[in-house]
Amino acid sequence: MPKRRDILAIVLIVLPWTLLITVWHQGAINPLLAARKDDRHESRRDSRNTFTLKKPCSSENNKDIVEVVHTEYVYSRPPPWSDVLPTLHVVTPTYSRPVQKAELTRLANTFLHVPNLHWILVEDSPRRTPLVTRLLRETSLNYTHLNVETPRNYKLRGDTRDPRIPRGTMQRNLALRWLRETFRSNNRHSQPGIVYFADDDNTYSLELFEEMRSTRKVSVWPVAFVGGLRYESPKVNTLGKVYGWKTVFDPHRPFAIDMAGFAVNLRLILFKPQAYFKLRGVKGGYQESSLLRELVTLNDLEPKAANCTKVLVWHTRTEKPVLVNEGKKGFTDSNVEI
Ligand SMILES: *[C@@H]1O[C@H](CO)[C@@H](O)[C@H](O)[C@H]1NC(C)=O
Repeated sequence: MPKRRDILAIVLIVLPWTLLITVWHQGAINPLLAARKDDRHESRRDSRNTFTLKKPCSSENNKDIVEVVHTEYVYSRPPPWSDVLPTLHVVTPTYSRPVQKAELTRLANTFLHVPNLHWILVEDSPRRTPLVTRLLRETSLNYTHLNVETPRNYKLRGDTRDPRIPRGTMQRNLALRWLRETFRSNNRHSQPGIVYFADDDNTYSLELFEEMRSTRKVSVWPVAFVGGLRYESPKVNTLGKVYGWKTVFDPHRPFAIDMAGFAVNLRLILFKPQAYFKLRGVKGGYQESSLLRELVTLNDLEPKAANCTKVLVWHTRTEKPVLVNEGKKGFTDSNVEI
């Protein structure tokens, strides 16, 4: 009959050995598991943007065991083009200003996550600028680069109303024309698409793009930080129909909705070739209505974002930066593009 002290001694001897063997055993297995996992990832990835370095384990003892696979990129951006998803034609008017490159970079970074996105960037300038040209070329996005300059002091004979054309209007209209010319003449009606007007000073949730992708005519959703409110939104009844607008600024507009709050099916754009944003005689806040009333009625609108209860896009107008005059002899370096 062993004494209790002997049993304790045996346990104290066996326990550390057991631990040691367990740890050693796991150490030998883990690299194999890791290598397997990498292989699985690799087969799923698009090979275009990936880069794999195979390096045999240098230790002589382990020569027979494993090849360590180092993986640089985990997935590709933008995601591989899909033949089944509708294309999102995202129209962005832009103009030269101190924060332009920052805003476009932020937008491009968002769009790089979205499958089947085609960015139509329209500059308000007499020619396409090198800054935007370079920026577009360096993203791996699918894009179309256009330009049209908004004339200053656009005045029509006898028109005493606001003579200015609202910023972005001519640019958005050019994109509409481009879409009609491209998709009608090439007879590519079969390619389903959605058109969305995404200004470069807003912030977009990736979820928003998947919400709008199923637009049949015109889909709508809330937009945050607009019209002096935390958010503006279509009002949706218990049947899931839009019946009005939650807004303080002129709620009786036919479509009291922000530019970032709706998307249109490309088929509808092609089917109604006269539908454009009105250039003149449009009161502030009526831009969106001027296009939408040509396309749909209130009854046609499809509420998205959980029946307009979720905010997926925010107006985040960047404050004009206060730039310190660095002085003639200071650090002003005109060669640096920011
Ligand atoms: C929206 O509301 C309609 C009607 O109440 C309902 O049938 C539908 O499931 C709702 N959709 C979502 C995404 O909540």
